Amino acid sequence: MNVIRFSDLCASGQVRGKRVFIRADLNVPQDDHGAITEDTRIRASVPCIQMALDAGAAVMVTSHLGRPTEGDFKPEDSLAPVAKRLGELLGRDVPLVANWVNSDDKASITPIPVRPGQLVMLENCRVNKGEKKNNPELAHKLAALCDIFVNDAFGTAHRAEGTTYGIAQFAPIACAGPLLSAEIDAIQKALAHPKRPLAAIVAGSKVSTKLTILKTLADKVDQLIVGGGIANTFMLAAGLKIGKSLAEPDLLAEAKAVMAAMKARGAEIPIPTDVVCAKTFAADAVATIKKATEVADDDLILDIGPETAAKLAAQLKASGTIVWNGPVGVFEFPAFESGTKVIAHAIAESSAFSIAGGGDTLAAIAKYGIDKQVGYISTGGGAFLEVLEGKTLPAFEILAKRAAG
Ligand code: 3PG
Repeated sequence: MNVIRFSDLCASGQVRGKRVFIRADLNVPQDDHGAITEDTRIRASVPCIQMALDAGAAVMVTSHLGRPTEGDFKPEDSLAPVAKRLGELLGRDVPLVANWVNSDDKASITPIPVRPGQLVMLENCRVNKGEKKNNPELAHKLAALCDIFVNDAFGTAHRAEGTTYGIAQFAPIACAGPLLSAEIDAIQKALAHPKRPLAAIVAGSKVSTKLTILKTLADKVDQLIVGGGIANTFMLAAGLKIGKSLAEPDLLAEAKAVMAAMKARGAEIPIPTDVVCAKTFAADAVATIKKATEVADDDLILDIGPETAAKLAAQLKASGTIVWNGPVGVFEFPAFESGTKVIAHAIAESSAFSIAGGGDTLAAIAKYGIDKQVGYISTGGGAFLEVLEGKTLPAFEILAKRAAG
């Protein structure tokens, strides 16, 4: 996708002395006291901000945090903990500017007091009236704040909101930041020009939420590895019994259609040949390895078995490209984590280019300490899934439109 890249603007000196508005995704998890429990997205936003400062810009950065009510700012909506953490990472103070859009005055907006070489954070952009629905008046006001708009918020690229879409429509220049560019490049490498064989792991509790992804990938990949409740539905479709395991029997026809589409192309959905069962869904439940043909009526399948895991690991090691979304078992419970652990290590050891995304997948990557061995870890949750569905995300669409003139 052809977009203007912020790094090119910086390299050509076009950023010096300019007002640069960066939309980052700093929507990080917090505990009940507001403390940040995981800061990957903040760390991922640093290169763009540093690039803008090094290029001599006056830098404003904003993000949403949670899903606040527009026009009704509450203390828990504040980006203050994020500004503090960003300040620690950058080694400088990051002042936080509140009430930076005068929502009731339709026409005017007060310029943000920031000079070249300075950085300020603009308070939670989702508190501004009109942000969510991309109100055109708000969009014009946001655009008036800057000379250059930089979208570096891949995690929010599937939302057409004021700070992800509207500002990009009207800012003098609208471009992609280094994180957004890296995400596009990694996704293109994995899905548009993959080194074959291309394997995708799509796992999770429900087929229904990932059905479009499964259908889209069925046309592209050489192996579609399914896991979790999704695998159970495919086992049912293959004529196997799954006891009282989580599955969606009403989607059997869809599952069969995906299997047929794959088979017609000479590709496959490997169906587990063994599984790990329990009688209850609990961390201390007794884990029993069974052949896939021997699952009892009162069994719950909570993981793939060792034979299946070894077979899939061999396929992953021989792959050219791997796309990973979702753990294949209940990896939070040690007795049912083996399948996910074996898959994670196979991805780490494979010479394939691998791309991973989604909250549970990132948790598994962290648990098995393989982050350095995964080719690219996406910061997107919903955005990553929508890309896998084959959608063009609004943030990319508008940047491409602006690049085309
Ligand atoms: C996310 O956490 O997936 C992004 O920050 C998007 O958040 P949203 O679903 O509230 O738009």
